[in-house]
Amino acid sequence: MLRFAVAFFAVITSSTCKKYSCLDGGTHKLKPGPEPNMQECTLYSESSCCYASFTEQLAHSPVIKINNSYWNRCGQLSKSCEDFTKKIECFYRCSPHAAHWIHPSYTAAIQSVPLCQSFCDDWYEACRDDSICVRNWLTDWEWDESGANHCKSKCIPYSEMYANGTDMCQSMWGESFKVSESSCLCLQMNEKDLMAAKYLLSDSSEESSSVSSSEERACQRKLRKLQKLKREQGGETR
Ligand SMILES: *[C@@H]1O[C@H](CO)[C@@H](O)[C@H](O)[C@H]1NC(C)=O
Ligand SMILES: *[C@@H]1O[C@H](CO)[C@@H](O)[C@H](O)[C@H]1NC(C)=O
Repeated sequence: MLRFAVAFFAVITSSTCKKYSCLDGGTHKLKPGPEPNMQECTLYSESSCCYASFTEQLAHSPVIKINNSYWNRCGQLSKSCEDFTKKIECFYRCSPHAAHWIHPSYTAAIQSVPLCQSFCDDWYEACRDDSICVRNWLTDWEWDESGANHCKSKCIPYSEMYANGTDMCQSMWGESFKVSESSCLCLQMNEKDLMAAKYLLSDSSEESSSVSSSEERACQRKLRKLQKLKREQGGETR
């Protein structure tokens, strides 16, 4: 237990003591900071770019809308699909790392955040029977005067809208996400992200878009260690 606590703490401090500011969206804080009273998105409570109050809207199920963006235009999402949608919303609004992938010309947006293939595949499976009317959630709506989103096309299952998890991850939020070739140096919206971020946010990976193979190996080693520690603890990762 102690060993786990020490290892985990080291991961947390090394990834959060560097200062990254937050995205420039309407709900973002200027700088990340602790939000101990978060009801949802608690993965980021140590260092969050959203206020705890923002997460109140996400803290119940079903989520009807976030601000003016309705989630139920094609009917209520299934619980499993909603959970993935929340993870993405939490990352965008609250992650202290999101600004690392800030869009060069639109500072409220992110670009090419590397997601794990398995995360995208699981997300796709969770949503495949839910319905959606936009291929690009950011651009394909019709907005009314109050800023609320409405479908322009008919609702179809996710499994018809997107060919697979890769297609979904790389289309649904425009250019925001890409599927990583690595199974370790990628984000999956759980506590493993703290470790992946340590490598992804390092200076060497900033220069080239691909991460070096030694970082890949180091990441894989750490991941195995983390998984072993978790197993010994009997803790299940989400
Ligand atoms: C809703 O949108 C407004 C303006 O776009 C923004 O100022 C506000 O912070 C948003 N609130 C939430 C909870 O998203
Ligand atoms: C996913 O769909 C895309 C687009 O249709 C296709 O190019 C790609 O080969 C598919 N990938 C897998 C793993 O099936």
